[in-house]
Amino acid sequence: MYICVCRAIRDRDVEAAVRAGARRPVDVFRAAGYSPQCGGCASDMRKRIDQTIATEQAAPQTLLAAD
Ligand code: FES
Repeated sequence: MYICVCRAIRDRDVEAAVRAGARRPVDVFRAAGYSPQCGGCASDMRKRIDQTIATEQAAPQTLLAAD
């Protein structure tokens, strides 16, 4: 799914950028090698960044629960 239509940045691109340390939309754009164009995706991108961070933080607990 595309998060940013202007730059063709997909949700998986956002997730990869977050795993590499991105915490703001501007960080995701930098990681993808672009700058924002219209900015219309900023809200959705922030949500995806937050969801990815939450998932990453929950993952170790999931692994511990499986033991
Ligand atoms: S939709 Fe992302 S910059 Fe336009």
